[in-house]
Amino acid sequence: MSETTIREPLLVELSSPGRRGVRFPEADVPAAAVPEALRRTSLPLPELSEVDVVRHYTRLSHFNHAVDIDFYPLGSCTMKYNPKVNEDMARLPGFAHIHPLQPEETVQGALAVMYYLQEYLKEIVGMAGVSLQPAAGAHGELTGVLIMRAYHRSRGDTKRNKILVPDSAHGTNPASSAMSGMRVVEIPSDDRGNIDLAKLKAECDDTLVGLMITNPNTLGLFEEHIEEVVQAVHDAGGLVYGDGANLNALLGIARFGDMGFDVVHLNLHKTFSTPHGGGGPGSGPVAVAQHLVDFLPGPIVEVVDEDEENGPTYGLVMPRHSIGRVKAFYGHFGVMVRALTYILSLGGEGLRQVAEDAVLNANYLRVQLQDTYHIPYNRLCKHEFVAEGRWEDAPGVRALDISKRLMDFGFHPPTNYFPLIVHEALMIEPTETESKRTLDAFVAAMKQIAREARENPEVLHEAPHTTPFGRVDEVKAARELVLTWFDWPQQG
Ligand SMILES: Cc1ncc(COP(=O)(O)O)c(C=O)c1O
Repeated sequence: MSETTIREPLLVELSSPGRRGVRFPEADVPAAAVPEALRRTSLPLPELSEVDVVRHYTRLSHFNHAVDIDFYPLGSCTMKYNPKVNEDMARLPGFAHIHPLQPEETVQGALAVMYYLQEYLKEIVGMAGVSLQPAAGAHGELTGVLIMRAYHRSRGDTKRNKILVPDSAHGTNPASSAMSGMRVVEIPSDDRGNIDLAKLKAECDDTLVGLMITNPNTLGLFEEHIEEVVQAVHDAGGLVYGDGANLNALLGIARFGDMGFDVVHLNLHKTFSTPHGGGGPGSGPVAVAQHLVDFLPGPIVEVVDEDEENGPTYGLVMPRHSIGRVKAFYGHFGVMVRALTYILSLGGEGLRQVAEDAVLNANYLRVQLQDTYHIPYNRLCKHEFVAEGRWEDAPGVRALDISKRLMDFGFHPPTNYFPLIVHEALMIEPTETESKRTLDAFVAAMKQIAREARENPEVLHEAPHTTPFGRVDEVKAARELVLTWFDWPQQG
């Protein structure tokens, strides 16, 4: 920890006996008789005034990095600026104050939002059906694999139990495939970062449920033989699942349906904007080709009646052979409002420009940094690229040191140590919302850090220097995590 920068209020106990933020009036009803055994005699909560609490949390919020503060190139996470108009829409009382148990006729506007979103997403990915149920990307993957399994079973094809996952896939891909009870077989990448076609074909047999492929992959590269890959899996009777969480790179340019995919999930909270991170709300809709529409989880919003005077009536419908519900109620509605707002405010041309600028920004950074950092799969990338955070002539300097030092320049670090196929990986995703000025400042910082790695490595090892807390012992933090402000006494 860099002691000089730790602010006093963080170290002192602010609680003081008897201090209160709120005083409740005397009860004007008789006290309920609570059995003695259920009563706690001491509840050691901090005792603070309202202003103490407000200042504490405001101070803590200043210690956090956020995309609204500065550049946040956390690869694979698409930390782009989220327009505030999306928040305004999600907070409209008619959306924010409805209850999922309300009768359908009282929430027709909300159902219309879901219906339009379903329709736009179908068009954007070129698929026949969409379910908005899954709560996030990994949940969408699990849902997609369950749909694939249900499809094979419905045809009496019960011996299929194998899912192929390239080693350049997002980490959730093998995890969600395994969670669905499938046998996961990893397929290596070739030296251009594509899936190794020969190895793929060798695994395409009659036990194949399908392939789950992240495209563009976690190297930020578009699969150059995608049509051949899809064909090989289909020839073996398997289905092709697309992890479409990196759709920021493809919006308005390429569609999973046109590439022959059977299932795809999207991360609304990445591509279609919604503040995320820290486990915040997500939404991972699953889109499918025509032959899988009946297996989608429900309910789905459909037009159940059409009347010339009043327009359409929307209703919640369960697909015929649905795998069932995968989420309570209807998914994360607030994220859907934000996504629809984003789509409508940008329009078709605007969405295409998102992808063009995201790809342009990533390639600009890649080319600016390629003489300073080794980029193992160095070809035209999509939304992100992966550099190595190490040099032969700077022994002892690791990707972690580079990332910690970047914080001194006011930047959030890139994703570290992922994907696993790049040593000391630094996965950099600038997104389309950054200006050339910001990108140039980042390049300058990265180049200065590369110089320091040779001339003064200590400054990297001890970084960050300007943050309220210095470098923490990550192993200790993981093993002895303390999440409360106070060590609660054991209940006797
Ligand atoms: C390519 C890719 N797939 C899947 C996921 C998982 O999404 P989630 O974190 O919403 O579960 C992510 C998350 O960023 C991702 O980048």
